[in-house]
Order: sequence, then structure tokens, then C-alpha cells
Amino acid sequence: MTDNQNENSQKEIDELSGVETTGHDWDDGSLKELNNPAPRWWLWVFYISVIWSVGYWVVYPAWPMLNGATEGTKGWTSYKKLAAEQAEIFDRQKVYLDRFEGASFDQIMADEELYAFAVAGGNSAFKDNCATCHGTGAEGRKGYPNLNDDDWLWGGTIDDIYQTLRYGIRSGHDEERLSEMPAFGKDELLEDEEIQAVTSFVLSMSEEGHNEGHGDLAKGATVFEEQCAACHGEKGEGGRDFGAPRLNDAIWLYGDTYDDVYQMVYNSRAGVMPAWVNRLDDNTIRQLAVYVHQHLGGGEQDGTEEESMDEEEIMDEEAMAEEAVSEDAVVQDVEEEAPVVEEPPMPESSSPAEATEELENGNVPEQGSETLPETQEPEHDGEAEPAEPEAGAEEPAEPEAGAEEPAGK
Ligand code: HEC
Ligand code: HEC
Repeated sequence: MTDNQNENSQKEIDELSGVETTGHDWDDGSLKELNNPAPRWWLWVFYISVIWSVGYWVVYPAWPMLNGATEGTKGWTSYKKLAAEQAEIFDRQKVYLDRFEGASFDQIMADEELYAFAVAGGNSAFKDNCATCHGTGAEGRKGYPNLNDDDWLWGGTIDDIYQTLRYGIRSGHDEERLSEMPAFGKDELLEDEEIQAVTSFVLSMSEEGHNEGHGDLAKGATVFEEQCAACHGEKGEGGRDFGAPRLNDAIWLYGDTYDDVYQMVYNSRAGVMPAWVNRLDDNTIRQLAVYVHQHLGGGEQDGTEEESMDEEEIMDEEAMAEEAVSEDAVVQDVEEEAPVVEEPPMPESSSPAEATEELENGNVPEQGSETLPETQEPEHDGEAEPAEPEAGAEEPAEPEAGAEEPAGK
């Protein structure tokens, strides 16, 4: 500031710096605001930004109108950008997809590239469509089965899994897997005493072998034989024709406490798994089947159900899961991790984030809630639309969030 200005100024001059103040002060006048002009470099940046933005308005879509933003001379839209990117990914995938399309599961397993392609695609489709219910690691939770273990409600061969995925479980589809355990208490099929007895008996037959509660075991055994064995098997070994869980192991879908089991017998439950046949294209479902069967572990080979049952008795769960993975790798002569993790071909992610969102937003029944899940409707509009997993998560959001504004400029 020059002396001239100071002299003409009505405003107070700060003693220390000799600069005019704005007249604002804080802390009873001990803190004053100086009236320095903005630095020159700052002003220049400001002017350039203004000029830049004018150019930008002309070239890119900018002004919101009734039917979207003004087009801009370049004709750029985030939709076009997304479409171009997707087309590029699709081209890259097409090489694999063409081969994958006609291949049987056996051929896929025998072909390293196709196998890696299936697992990579299955992995991303799983995150988009299945993880909300089964967990990102497919570890499951109450009411939603763990898909890593050897315990299969409806069968663990790749064809079984493919069937489960296509048509779902109690999904309402014509080909659904359907069965219903009676509500023995609610529908007054058994006396309370009998339910207590059979509950105790079921707990005593489980691998944990605990016998909580006070039911009469002998009586429980009789009730079990008469009422339960038809579905769950004489020894509680489970019945896959009915999706009736194995009861003589240590794996529980609905919990292992006395109360859990009592509730199950009293009220029954009927877990719902959506049918995917109309939501995902067949390639994606096949990729998922390979992924669940081969990659997650615990998948069964055709005709080896009996063997795996025996093994399960000897080994503990975790050892089994590992074993199954390495077995598969040997059988299929495929390196388990390397092709999968290192260089996956562009996976086909079949669903933009909406599917997951939809599920999160209310199509997923509360964990362990008493009310049974309605038929799930995870919307899926992406059919065969390819997208990278990361792209799938972010890109589709762009058009909504940024309207027509070019992102990242
Ligand atoms: C809305 C929740 C939900 C979603 C989404 C879901 N599942 Fe399920 N899934 C279930 C439930 C519940 C069951 C168990 C049904 C029952 O009690 O028999 C199940 C069962 C299964 C089974 C049969 C397991 C067995 O032991 O036989 C497989 C395999 C499976 N799901 C795979 C998938 C895959 C792959 C996806 C993604 C495409 C998926 N699920 C998406 C809820 C879901
Ligand atoms: C019509 C076939 C059928 C009959 C009969 C039946 N169940 Fe079930 N049970 C099932 C099915 C199916 C399930 C799995 C339900 C689901 O997945 O939502 C099940 C689940 C269970 C579970 C839960 C297991 C777990 O892993 O959490 C228990 C416990 C059980 N049943 C006990 C019994 C007892 C005790 C009886 C006899 C009093 C009985 N069931 C009779 C079909 C049957």
C-alpha cells in the first residue's frame, strides 16, 4: 500500500503492517482484517478459468434444458463414452465368449483358458448378484448357505449347481427346486413335548453331540423316525431330493442352539433363492456354476457323492475345503490360482450396480427374521452387457450422478 492511499482512506490503518483494514475486527479489536488486494497470479488464474469455462460450455454439454443438457459441439455424452468403453470390452471378451458358448462343462474344465475365463467372469458376476445374500466370500450366514463347504442342500455336482442357479429354490419358477418342511408346532402336528424331545434328539445326533434342553431322547428318536426321517434320512444324513439339510454334521443353516432348532421344528422355514434364468444370460450362469463348483471348493464330481460323505466324517471342515480345492486342481490339471488371479481375461460382468443395489434396498430378507423371504426380484437389466468389474461398479453411476457433464475434465 502506498502512503497516498493511506492518507485518503477513511478506514483504519493497521499499525504493524501499515495496511488498511476492512473495519472488521474480532476479540474486542485485537484481531483485524487487512484489506490486501488479491495477488496478481491469483487474478490471472481466475480470468483464465472464466475464459476456459466459456469455451467448455460451447464444446461440451453444459446447460440443463428440459430434455437433458445442451449438446455441445463435440457431441460428447457420458452415455456415449460408456457405450464405447463397453463395446471395447465386449470385443475383447468375444473371442472367449464364442468358444465358451458351445463348450460343455467338461470341455471348459479341460481348457485352461476357458476355465480361467469362466472363473473370472463367475467371480465378478458373483460379486454383483450373489454376494448380497451369500457374502462376498460365499461364506453364507444364517439362512443363506455357505457355498465353500461340502455341505450341499440340493447337490454339489456342477449340473446340480447349474440347475439350482437357473431355476432357483422356492423361487416361483416352474422348474424351481421346491420342498417344504411342515411347521410341526404352528400347525399342531406335534405336541410341544414331542417337539422338545425331537429337538434334543436332533442336537444329540449332530457332530457336536451336545444335548441341551430336556427332551426325552428315546421319545425324540421315535418322533424323528416317524416324522422327519422321510426327508432328513434315517440317520439324519440329509435328503437332497427335498433340500433337507444333513442334521448329523456340524453345519447348520439356521443355527445350532436348542432354541434355533426348536424354532425350526415349530415354525419351519423355507429359504428362497431367486431363479436367474431370466436375469442372467446362459453364459453368465454357466460361468457362475463353474465358479461355485470349481473355484469356491466343495464341488462334487458326478457319482462321488457317497465318497465325499465318508471323507467328510473323517476330516474337519476346513481341511476338507482345502482338500477339495487342491483335488479339483489336480483332477482338472489346472493351476488353481495362477491363471485365475494373475491374468484373468476380461470377465463378463453382467450387471451394473443396480442389481446389487436393488437387493440391498429391500429385496434381501432380514437375517434370521421370522418372516420368510418373499420371492426375490433382484432386477437385472444388463443381460449381456459386458463391463469390467470395477467399471461395472462405477461407470453406470456416472450418467445419473453427473447428468451430462463430462467427468474427469
Ligand atoms: C436373495 C438372496 C439370494 C441371492 C441373491 C442368491 N442366493 Fe443362492 N441361495 C439363497 C438361499 C436362501 C439359499 C438356500 C435355499 C434353501 O434354504 O434351500 C440359496 C442356495 C443356493 C445354492 C444351493 C446350495 C446348496 O447347498 O445346494 C447355490 C449353489 C446358490 N445359492 C448359489 C447362488 C449364486 C451363484 C447366486 C448369484 C447368482 C445366488 N445364489 C444368489 C439366497 C440367495
Ligand atoms: C417334507 C420334508 C421335511 C420333513 C418331513 C422335515 N423336514 Fe426338516 N427340513 C426340511 C427342509 C427342506 C429344510 C431346509 C429348509 C430351508 O432350507 O429353508 C429343513 C430344515 C430343518 C432343520 C434346520 C437344519 C439346519 O441346518 O439349520 C432342522 C433342525 C430340521 N429340519 C429338523 C426337522 C425335524 C426335527 C423334523 C421332524 C419333526 C423335520 N425336520 C421334518 C424338510 C423336512
